[in-house]
Amino acid sequence: MKGIFITFEGIEGCGKSTQAKLLADYLQKTGKEVLFTREPGGPKISEEIREILLNNANAEMIPRTEVLLYMASRSQHTSEWIIPALKNGKIVISDRYYDSTIAYQGAARKIERNIIDMLTTFATFGLKPDITFLVDLPAEIGLARIEQKDADRLERESLDFHKKVRAGFLKIAEQEKDRYIVLNGAKTVNEIHREIIKKIDEKIRK
Ligand code: TMP
Repeated sequence: MKGIFITFEGIEGCGKSTQAKLLADYLQKTGKEVLFTREPGGPKISEEIREILLNNANAEMIPRTEVLLYMASRSQHTSEWIIPALKNGKIVISDRYYDSTIAYQGAARKIERNIIDMLTTFATFGLKPDITFLVDLPAEIGLARIEQKDADRLERESLDFHKKVRAGFLKIAEQEKDRYIVLNGAKTVNEIHREIIKKIDEKIRK
């Protein structure tokens, strides 16, 4: 495919959404065609599934339902938005993609990795990000940045849950060094943004 697929990952409150947006703005200013999107979400059907997933009223949702809904959202998003944009040569930036499932539903909710991998291949049509930025931060610090009264169903999980999610992301980064760039989320927004731009400029110029 002609375009470049960039994803941002990390625990709650790590600052990845801010960084994803800053990168999208930067690339647009330099004349690139960018699709800026998120998971769960993107097209209408996927955004509707997002509502179900994050709704605090759905506290009884079991892990199997959760993983299938993330995958359902992802397959629609990938087919309707991401693949067509990449075929048109756009840079696609997604705030989260399938690594979030490996970290949240795998490392934290304990769904078996081989089941997640099989469902991922099905939902993504085999598409993989070209570059993934992990904005890494200890769970205590990330959670402290979130207003508890506004927290969604996943954000309300325990500190221990979010520690497992962080460990899950770090493990993927270790296993997939070619794709992953780990950034220290404790640095300032500007410092992190500059590091990201440096990496992207190197990659695009290649
Ligand atoms: P957000 O807070 O980055 O918008 O992401 C929505 C929530 O969904 C966040 O708590 C992480 C969670 N999530 C999963 O548990 N599995 C997934 O596959 C994805 C994409 C997100």
